[in-house]
Amino acid sequence: MKISIGSDHAGFQAKERLREMLEAEGHTVYDKGTNSEESTDYPDYGHAVAKSVSSGECERGILVCGTGIGMCMTANKTPGVRAALVHDEFTTEMSRKHNNANVLCMGTRVLDEETILRLTKIWLSTEFGGDRHALRVEKIEGGIKS
Ligand code: RB5
Repeated sequence: MKISIGSDHAGFQAKERLREMLEAEGHTVYDKGTNSEESTDYPDYGHAVAKSVSSGECERGILVCGTGIGMCMTANKTPGVRAALVHDEFTTEMSRKHNNANVLCMGTRVLDEETILRLTKIWLSTEFGGDRHALRVEKIEGGIKS
């Protein structure tokens, strides 16, 4: 899978570990930065990863900041992006099964790095449930009127 990744300074170390893990698993990783722990602005990377997914450059995106909140807010500004902030196995699985999330957001001040790697593996291997959820996901973009 082609996967775009990004972080701010708070997520930098976790992003580096994510890239190593994803490449070791055979994915093609597009690293949109940041490239150090120097303080920086999360929207710059959130938008870059969202654009990568909405343009079709990558199938999925993964964003890491302190809480995951700012990245998720940012990524969801881009049409076609369904970014999910997850905290545990349940929210990770549901974001794929029910919401067909194409961008995963996590926080390093909420989750330890091992958990971030574990949830990423779960997220990448969980399929969208389709069926009634497909109609609801279409409604997110406003394509179907209630
Ligand atoms: C940076 O201090 C922090 O605000 C950022 O990483 C993130 O948590 C924002 O949502």
